[in-house]
Amino acid sequence: MPAAALSHWRDFRNIVLFTGAGLSAECGVPTYRGAGGIWREYNYQDYACQRAFDRDPVQVLDFHELRRTKVLSCAPHAGHAHIRAMQAEHPGIHVITQNIDGLLQRAGVVVVAELHGSLWRLRCPVHGIRDDLAVGAYAHRHCPDCPPDRAPWLRPDITWFEDAVNEAVFEHAAMLVDDAELFVGIGTSGAVWPAAGFAERARQRGARMVEINPENNEASALYGQHIRLPASTALPEAFPIGG
Ligand code: APR
Repeated sequence: MPAAALSHWRDFRNIVLFTGAGLSAECGVPTYRGAGGIWREYNYQDYACQRAFDRDPVQVLDFHELRRTKVLSCAPHAGHAHIRAMQAEHPGIHVITQNIDGLLQRAGVVVVAELHGSLWRLRCPVHGIRDDLAVGAYAHRHCPDCPPDRAPWLRPDITWFEDAVNEAVFEHAAMLVDDAELFVGIGTSGAVWPAAGFAERARQRGARMVEINPENNEASALYGQHIRLPASTALPEAFPIGG
């Protein structure tokens, strides 16, 4: 069944597109929960938390390199391209993502907030954050700007379980959510807080709430309209452009 088109979507002054792993699923990037989910195959306590990194940085960096390599073998789909086209037509489209894969940026989408960081950045405790856009394997596993005899391990710039979130990123996202007249949740289970709180925040402030997700989930009740289609199909049908 085609998605009910929001043909008047341009009338909303500020629109937040809040994306999760489901937006990347059709590219071949596994989601976290549900069938084939990453956390069904890997225990995050061994691969995606500070304790694991402190205990075995090689295993953690190997895991993230696997994910980088997998993402590089995938390409953005028609839904990503549609978001870019929407941004070209409307100055008030704000994309807030939980995703760390960078697929939105590869599709030319302007992303205002990466709530959980990125596979394509690393942190040095001395020199801070650095991009690492090398193909798959990290260009450096120890900080090249530190003295070689005491260069620390570089840590993925990702908000892992048990981490504090990046307050500045979340505050910026919250400001955009507060101004949203239309809030579209795309491919997220709404399972992880505080990111999951943005849907409730938008709803409380009177935003029109639209969910794009083939399945029902714990956040679905917050949305007034549910488009039970995959993102690559739902986005072009729901938000017609051109014409
Ligand atoms: N189109 C749209 N949604 C889809 C598609 C698709 N083609 N395929 C799956 N989905 C939906 C699933 O139904 C599910 O509700 O995407 C959602 C993915 O949920 P999760 O795997 O929980 O991913 P996400 O919500 O992004 O997880 C949030 O959890 O592990 C942490 O930091 C990680 O950012 C991540 C956070």
